[in-house]
Amino acid sequence: MTEEPISVCIVTFGCQMNKLDSELLHSELVRNGFSITDDPGRADVVLYNTCSVRGHAEDRVFSQLGSYRRRAKGDGRFVLGVIGCVAQRLGEDLIRRFNYVDLVCGTQAFLRVPEHLRSILAGGGPVVDVTDGNSSYGGPSCHRMPGVRESRHQAYVAVMRGCDNFCSYCIVPYVRGREASRRPRDIVEEVTALAADGVREVTLLGQNVNSYGRGLDGESASFAGLLALLNDVHGIERIRFITNHPRDMSDSILDAVARLDKVCEHLHVPAQSGSDAVLARMNRGYTAAQYRAIVARARELIPDVELSSDFMVGFPGETDADFEDTLELLRGVRFQQSFVFKYSPRPGTKAARWPDDIPDEVKRERNQILLAAQQEVDRARRAALVGQEVEVLVNGRNKGAPAGLAAGCVAPGGAASVGRGAVGLVGRTRQNDIVVFEGPEQLLGRLCRVRLTHSTALTLFGRLAEAGAPLGHGQRNRS
Ligand code: SAH
Ligand code: SF4
Ligand code: F3S
Repeated sequence: MTEEPISVCIVTFGCQMNKLDSELLHSELVRNGFSITDDPGRADVVLYNTCSVRGHAEDRVFSQLGSYRRRAKGDGRFVLGVIGCVAQRLGEDLIRRFNYVDLVCGTQAFLRVPEHLRSILAGGGPVVDVTDGNSSYGGPSCHRMPGVRESRHQAYVAVMRGCDNFCSYCIVPYVRGREASRRPRDIVEEVTALAADGVREVTLLGQNVNSYGRGLDGESASFAGLLALLNDVHGIERIRFITNHPRDMSDSILDAVARLDKVCEHLHVPAQSGSDAVLARMNRGYTAAQYRAIVARARELIPDVELSSDFMVGFPGETDADFEDTLELLRGVRFQQSFVFKYSPRPGTKAARWPDDIPDEVKRERNQILLAAQQEVDRARRAALVGQEVEVLVNGRNKGAPAGLAAGCVAPGGAASVGRGAVGLVGRTRQNDIVVFEGPEQLLGRLCRVRLTHSTALTLFGRLAEAGAPLGHGQRNRS
């Protein structure tokens, strides 16, 4: 390698798993003598970490790649690479379509990117690697370098990879491979290292964390067991996880959330639809009634739990009546948050064999109706929180005006009680609600208690109740 390190810019699309993979690759590149830059215009190498979950996500990548045509053809030294789910799905076809792409590296081979780059930079020509590489992937502590992550205080940790569920619409099992769980002791080791590096909150990632441990031996190789182990890691204050498949939601997991003080009372349990006929065609393995029963059980076992969901509209054959059932489920459950997606046929999936028969205007309309219904639920839910005292993990400065000013109301004693040097801070409750308030900068990365003073459509505003007091075990969010 020359004295000036080769600079690499990684542009990331897609879900949290992709964000994490970009961070892991960042570490791997630095360890191999490359430097990292945020500026694609000045980088020697630009890598797109891509998402394939909907057609739109892929189209965005294609249009970005297209914008490099001139530079890639004109600058012999410049390297353009595609990694992640689109790379895995299309492999060599990507180079046929964009003949100036130098590297295509799939979801299970991305830790080999440094060696591939070396070969390309040495004039070895384009590389396509979409082979299996589970052994080099997600190993002991993923060899993370300290400080290489988006947030100082928060980190994603993959507890498993892949997915075996084959929901009929979904590309993920095809692009992420078979489900495989990491060993509990490797995860504990990684979380311990993250805690030593200043991380206070970890979000455990898996396409379906409920099935964590399948294929591993031992008592702690269950998701509830893993949560118990991680709850004991010194320095970690909060544990979150995504995603829970409704079908495999067990009392043992709900009990663990209720019992373990660091595990936050927030569950992302995608319902997808409220119609039994649609759920059956989606191969989800539960009915709307079973879904409601899971929600009821979660609320019974976990005081203060909040649930969020994904919904899909315009699935093949979705009638007005099916859609009404979905709307009713969303309103009835009163989710804390709902993500709504328009169905997009994915090549090779079972649903892609059925006609995509719901016109785009109808998909768009159903999408808007669900979002508006969620907003209504949201507004009422947030307003009901005003007056309560909540635990907040402070994760940054509020970029707008100071909390009190932005909110147009400084509660009596509010600013004064936090003293001079107060800045606008933003953090999240255990239930994942965003809270804006004023407080000393030293609270960054720490837990504090905030009295909620009022709410807007998206945000809760509050006043510091008690700065930096460590919470005792079992102390819950709301008073
Ligand atoms: N493993 C997670 C979700 C991964 S994909 C789970 O099972 O919940 C995230 C969301 O994208 C899904 O919940 C679904 O709502 C949406 N999605 C997946 N495939 C889609 C498709 N073909 N068209 C539109 N939305 C899709
Ligand atoms: Fe896709 Fe279903 Fe797997 Fe989620 S559980 S990643 S929706 S196949
Ligand atoms: Fe994630 Fe998109 Fe791949 S949602 S798993 S980056 S297809």
